[in-house]
Formats: sequence, structure tokens, C-alpha cells
Amino acid sequence: MKAIIVKKAGGPEVLALADVDKPKPGKGELLIRVKAATVTVGDAKLRSMSRAILVPVGLIFGFKPMKIAGVEFAGIVEELGEGVSNYAKGERVLGTTTGLERGANAEFVVVPVQSRMGVLAKLPEGLSFEEGAALPVGAMTAWQILQKAGPLQGKRVLVYGASGSVGSCAVQLAALQGASVSAFCSAANVAMVRGLGAAAVLDYQSQALADAGEQDVVFDAVGKLSRSAYAPILAKGGVYLSVRGPTSERADELRYLVGLAAEGRIKPFIDRRIRLEDVPEAHRLVDSGRKRGNIVVLMD
Ligand SMILES: NC(=O)c1ccc[n+]([C@@H]2O[C@H](COP(=O)([O-])OP(=O)(O)OC[C@H]3O[C@@H](n4cnc5c(N)ncnc54)[C@H](OP(=O)(O)O)[C@@H]3O)[C@@H](O)[C@H]2O)c1
Repeated sequence: MKAIIVKKAGGPEVLALADVDKPKPGKGELLIRVKAATVTVGDAKLRSMSRAILVPVGLIFGFKPMKIAGVEFAGIVEELGEGVSNYAKGERVLGTTTGLERGANAEFVVVPVQSRMGVLAKLPEGLSFEEGAALPVGAMTAWQILQKAGPLQGKRVLVYGASGSVGSCAVQLAALQGASVSAFCSAANVAMVRGLGAAAVLDYQSQALADAGEQDVVFDAVGKLSRSAYAPILAKGGVYLSVRGPTSERADELRYLVGLAAEGRIKPFIDRRIRLEDVPEAHRLVDSGRKRGNIVVLMD
């Protein structure tokens, strides 16, 4: 099968389109024909991180350096491993390969039904494969971090870095909960972010944080500013949130977010659709920090 292999740690040049063995599902695993995958910030970090760091850290936390790139996927169950009864051949699924050596920038991927790190869920008919692939990381991260602020109904919520994968979901999820959302992004992305449901969109290149006014919650979705930078605009008792904090992937949260997406209440923003051979170029865009929403890799 065709896959994007990671030859060693380094820049996008360490990625290559290659023919590799089609994987086989083991006990408790599924073989999935990938229909769509993505290129994320996490993929770029895993690609570039020194193996001298990744290997010992992975031994502690239970993951392996990636040999095939790509964490998010949506696809069709091709084969069931021994003992799998809650999925059926031909079923549509989505999820992540977090912690696995072989990622989803490939024609096929094997994932455990119960994973310590990654997540798996059924993909409803109302959601396309590309929407399914683009949903997990951005939506789960935004959801989990926003929850730390408690109920958002009637709150003033500022999302800083609103045009990325996490930020674009955070704007939608906060607005959905009845918050009045203000957002910062570059001038080029103002219209995009307004379309996500932000009541006020500010350009961080020409406007100051103070221009957003007092906020009950600030969510730094790109981790670009220090906590102290937000202090002047946080209301008394206000909550500061950042993507720099730890999160974990949870299948129940993914299923909830898939439900919201299937009902059309949130929609992962897809900026680009690319082919498998274009993945190294997409890593260059991710490395530049200018990715908008999600980059989806279409396998057909
Ligand atoms: N805690 C977790 O579990 C977790 C999970 C996923 C991601 N993350 C982290 O969250 C961060 C965002 O991830 P992502 O996937 O959303 O990234 P992304 O999609 O690559 O975000 C790119 C966006 O960041 C914006 N940006 C770049 N520089 C900026 C600046 N100086 N000020 C404001 N906005 C800026 C860009 O918008 P403009 O072009 O409009 O500036 C671009 O649209 C990353 O650091 C990632 O590692 C954490």
C-alpha cells in the first residue's frame, strides 16, 4: 500500500511517499481503509522531534516514534481482528492513531478498538469522510479545555488564534453554548472566523488585546501569549485557558462531538484538500504557522 513514511527526525524532507506492507489486524484491532486523513501540528511535531527524546519519553508514556505520518482518519472497516464484536466489516469510522507507530497518511491503518491513547468512533451517514477526519484533534482539544471554564451561557469568551484547528472549533463550541465570542486572528482570516460564529473579530496585527474589552474567559488557542498578557482584560474571577495545558483523548467526548457535527451544530473548517503525495508540502505550511483550520488528505 502507499503511505507517507517518516525516514528520521527532521524537516518535511524526511517524509516520503513509499510502498509499504499492508498491515494486518491483530487481536482486538480493526483494519481500516482510510478514506480521509489530515496533516496536523502534532504530526509536524512528531516528525521533527529528536528520536533521542522521543524514544525514552515514549517508553514512559507508552507510545512509539511514528514510522508512518498522520494521526487523524476516517474510513471504512475492511477487516476485524480476533475478538472484535462491536464493529462490523464495511462500517464507517473515524478516530486517531495517537501513540501508534503507523499513522493514517496511508491507504490502510490498523487501530485497536480499545486504545490507551487514541480514540475510535462510528461515523454517522450525515458526516462525510473529510469532515470525520478533520474533527477529532481540534474539537476534542477545544472542548476539553473550554470545559475547564464551566458553563459558558451568557459569558464573554475571547479566543486568541481563532483560525487554527483548535481555535476554529473553540469559537464554534463557545458560541454553541451561548457565549458571546470575540476572536483574534490575522486580517486575512477575519471573514473566515466571523463565519464560525464570533460576534467580534479582531486583527492581532493592528489591534491590541485591550480592544476586545473585558472578558470572562480567554482561551489562547495557539499558545502565543503569556498568561500575564491577558490579565488586563480578564474580569474579576475570570478564567484563563491555554492549549499549552495537557489534554487526553477520550472516546466518549469524541462521540459527543461527532453527534454535534452530525446535527450540523459544529463543522470542522477545511481549508485545503490534498493528495497523499502532497503531505510533505502540507507539513511546510503547518511549520509556517499559517495553516487555517484543517488540511485534509483525500485517499481516492
Ligand atoms: N493541548 C493539546 O492537547 C493540544 C492539542 C492540539 C494542539 N495543541 C497545540 O495547540 C496549538 C494550536 O494547534 P492548531 O492545530 O490549532 O494549530 P494550527 O491549526 O496550525 O494554527 C495555525 C493558526 O495559528 C494562527 N497563528 C499563528 N501565529 C499566530 C500569532 N502569533 N497570533 C495569533 N494567531 C497565530 C494562524 O492564524 P493567522 O494566520 O490568522 O495568524 C493559523 O491560522 C499548537 O501549539 C498545538 O501544538 C495542543
